[in-house]
Amino acid sequence: MKLSFSPAWDSSKLPLTEWFTSFKETISNPSIGFFNVTERSELLSSCKEIHSKFKNKKSFVQVGIGGSSLGPEMLITALKKNDCEFQFINNIDPDKIHDQISGLNIEETLFYFVSKSGGTAETMAGFSIVSNLLLEKGISESEFKNHYVFATDPVKSELLDLGAELGVDCLEIPSNVGGRFSVLTPVGFLPALFAGLDCDALLKGANNLKKELLNEELDKNILLETASFLMNQKSLGRNQTVMMPYSSKLRDMGFWFVQLWAESLGKKLSLNGDTVFEGLTPIPGYGATDQHSQVQLFMEGPHDKVMIMLQVNKFENDYSLKNNFNASRLKMLSNHSLSGLMEAEFAGSLMALKEQERPYIHLEIPRNNEESMGEMILFLESLTAIMGSALNIDPFDQPGVELGKIYAFARLEERNQ
Ligand code: PA5
Repeated sequence: MKLSFSPAWDSSKLPLTEWFTSFKETISNPSIGFFNVTERSELLSSCKEIHSKFKNKKSFVQVGIGGSSLGPEMLITALKKNDCEFQFINNIDPDKIHDQISGLNIEETLFYFVSKSGGTAETMAGFSIVSNLLLEKGISESEFKNHYVFATDPVKSELLDLGAELGVDCLEIPSNVGGRFSVLTPVGFLPALFAGLDCDALLKGANNLKKELLNEELDKNILLETASFLMNQKSLGRNQTVMMPYSSKLRDMGFWFVQLWAESLGKKLSLNGDTVFEGLTPIPGYGATDQHSQVQLFMEGPHDKVMIMLQVNKFENDYSLKNNFNASRLKMLSNHSLSGLMEAEFAGSLMALKEQERPYIHLEIPRNNEESMGEMILFLESLTAIMGSALNIDPFDQPGVELGKIYAFARLEERNQ
C-alpha cells in the first residue's frame, strides 16, 4: 500500500505528537480491541472448524445489519473465488427478503446470524422469518443446529443464550471490538472462508502494516500524514470525504467506509462534553463509472471535498482492445489493453483534480488481493481512530442511532395495544 497527497501542506503547527500518543493509548486500552484482534489467531481457527463442519453447503446467507454485514459484503464482492452463492439479509424490506429466500435450497444453505449485541431488531426479524421458513419445510427446532451458525458477544447476548438453547455453534465477536470495526473477526472470516478467501493472508496484510502505523518518525508515519492532511483540509472547509476506488470489485469498500467514517466521527459532543456537531461526511463512488456521474460535482462543485483515489496497479485479468475498425475512437484504443485504459483514466483524473485545485489522497495497492485488503482495512480503521483524537470526539460510540430505535420500539408497543 502506498500513499501520496495533493496539494502539499504544512503540518508543523498541528499537534501530531499529541494525536499519536492518544492513538497509542487507544489501541492499548483493553476495551478497544480492533487493532490487536488481528493477532488472536484462535478466532480464525474457530471459523475454519465451522467451515470444515459445513463445507458441503453450497449457499451462504448472512443475516445481520451495519457492521455485521457491510464488511463481509465488501470482502465477498472484492475477492470471492468460488461458486458458493451469497445472500446478505441486511434490511427489513419484505419484498427484498422474499426475493432472497424464495429460491433457496434449504438443505444446501448455511444461515449465519450475526449480531454483536445479540438483540438488534432487524436481525432478530430475519431470524424469525428464516426459522418460520425452516419450520414450514418440516425442519424442527432441534435440527436448526444443522443449518445455523451464530456470531455474537461471548459474554452477554440473547443470541448467545438462544444458541445454547438450540445447540447452535456460536462464534465470538470479541466484546472489545465494535460492530463497524469487526470485519477482521468471525463476522468477516466465516463468509470469507465459504467464498474461498485466504483469511491468513488477510491477517498477514493487517499485521504487516502495524510497523508503519506505529512508526515513531512522525513525518514518515502514513497514519499521521493522512490525518494531518485531512485536518489541514478540514480547516479550509473540506469536510466531505469521497472514497473512490477505480475498481468495480472494490465498490463495496465505499459502503463499508461510509459506515466506519460516519458512525464513528459524526458526533454532537466533544470529549469534554461541549456541543460541537463534529464529523466528516463520507461519499461512496467508483471509477471509471462515476466519471460519467458524480465526478462533475467533485471537479466543479463546492470546494468541500477530499477525494481518496484508490488505484489497483495490476488487475488479475485483462483484455486487448485491438481492432481493425475505422471509427476514430476505436483506432485510438487499438494499441491498448483495458487495464491500460483504466490507468490512463485514473492518471487523467489525478491531473484534472490537481488542475482544479481539488485535494486528493492517492492510495495505491499492488493488486486486489487478501493481503492488500487486510492492509486497507486496518489502515482505514486506524485512521478513523486517530481522526477521533484529532477531532476530539469518541469514535467508538454511536449515541445518535439510539433515539430512533427508542421511538421505533415505542411504536411497536403502541401497535400491541
Ligand atoms: O458499528 C456499530 O456498532 C453498528 O453499526 C452495528 O454494527 C449495528 O447496529 C449492528 O449491531 P449488532 O451487530 O449488535 O446487531
